[in-house]
Amino acid sequence: MSKNTLTVTDNRTGKTYELPIENDTIKAMDLRQIKVNPDDFGMMTYDPAFTNTASCKSNITYIDGDKGILEYRGIPIQDLAEHSTYLEVAYLLVHGKLPNLTELKDWVKNITLHTFVHENVKKFMEGFRHDAHPMGMMISTLGALSTFYPTSKNIGDPEEIRISTHRLIAKMPTLAAWSYRHLLGMPYVYPDNELSFAGNFLSMMFKVAETRYTPNPAVERALDVLFILHADHEQNCSTNTMRSIGSSQADPYSCVAGATAALYGPLHGGANQAVLEMLDKIGSKDKVPEFIKSCKAGEGRLMGFGHRVYKNYDPRAKIIKKLADEVFDALGRNPKIEIALEIERIALSDDYFVQRKLYPNVDFYSGLIYEALRIPMDMFTVLFAIPRTAGWIAQWAEMLNDKDQKIARPRQVYLGARGQNYVPVRDRK
Ligand code: ACO
Repeated sequence: MSKNTLTVTDNRTGKTYELPIENDTIKAMDLRQIKVNPDDFGMMTYDPAFTNTASCKSNITYIDGDKGILEYRGIPIQDLAEHSTYLEVAYLLVHGKLPNLTELKDWVKNITLHTFVHENVKKFMEGFRHDAHPMGMMISTLGALSTFYPTSKNIGDPEEIRISTHRLIAKMPTLAAWSYRHLLGMPYVYPDNELSFAGNFLSMMFKVAETRYTPNPAVERALDVLFILHADHEQNCSTNTMRSIGSSQADPYSCVAGATAALYGPLHGGANQAVLEMLDKIGSKDKVPEFIKSCKAGEGRLMGFGHRVYKNYDPRAKIIKKLADEVFDALGRNPKIEIALEIERIALSDDYFVQRKLYPNVDFYSGLIYEALRIPMDMFTVLFAIPRTAGWIAQWAEMLNDKDQKIARPRQVYLGARGQNYVPVRDRK
């Protein structure tokens, strides 16, 4: 009869250990009993970058990378992208279920009421250098928000968590748009609470002298769908940072500042920019075969292709590809799309990419849409951070309620020197 255990034999001692299996995992701490001598520390696992370590149990986002499945709280991303709005999805992530009509109205009202920031926030944003990168401005300003809401550090108080959740989701677009206006040297635009979440963001980005900015409905919807697609992606680098900082019981503004910093890196939030640069470098459709040949020869990577988890078409990329057509119908075709489509056509029928299961990822088409929306490259990662805030908060709140969690504190394998003598500086060679 099969048993839900794993038997491990330590060949150093000949001893056998039976470890319980739960949810297809063993507890790393169960290995600690494996010792050669009673005073040994015990066995650990070595897993740089946590490539095969589950750091938590979660009920928020499900990914099956082989089948190309992504679900938030069990609902397929395709259904959410087609039928939902970003704010409804944010509620779903944070509360674990879709809201009824009254809950949705209250939620939207609460988020909308918190879009404004203290005037002093505006003042210190104005103090950044004229060409400050918007992500740098976001990280610092988010950290500074914790000084405006000192009681937010009472993370045991559900009311504090509730209000910080509303504030963070609501204020991200305001800070994001202002960091962009700063780059342009244009006056910051205050939120327009009559507009939708995405519409208000577009207004704060692009309003000039008109009394009221009217967003193009196709652009507003496209942005909202992009927000839905980027709202969560389980234990990625920035979410792991959010949980890690949160595990020390820091306030949520400091946690989101740290998560935003993790997202800033080109390996995480910056790949769509690399795709546009690659398309610019290729220049025209007829140069694609030559470029693909160079990638296969190891002279560079096909940016926007491949994923650590998805070994199939990234489900978000499929939705974005369709969205790109809708945006181009409304705003005109981005000429780079022809190069992108040719890359996809050739790569998906090429043995090199097929054998390695390299498919377009979320970043392959998103940059083309942002470009069509007249959003500059420096803002791409900021546009990722706005919706990911809902995921970060949901993951952080889940961690706070998880009795298994403690302060994050990995172990190390120490390979350095021991027992060295301290030599005074005058005696050193
Ligand atoms: N172009 C060409 N070859 C590639 C690519 C690519 N984009 N991606 C992987 N390969 C090849 C590798 O050279 C390797 O080949 P080999 O077995 O002959 O050595 C094989 O495929 C496996 O590659 P790994 O680097 O081991 O795959 P990993 O899962 O570690 O990397 C990653 C995933 C980083 C996304 C990679 O595919 C890549 O660099 N892609 C391009 C950058 C990109 O689009 N990043 C965005 C990811 S989505 C996101 O972060 C939101």
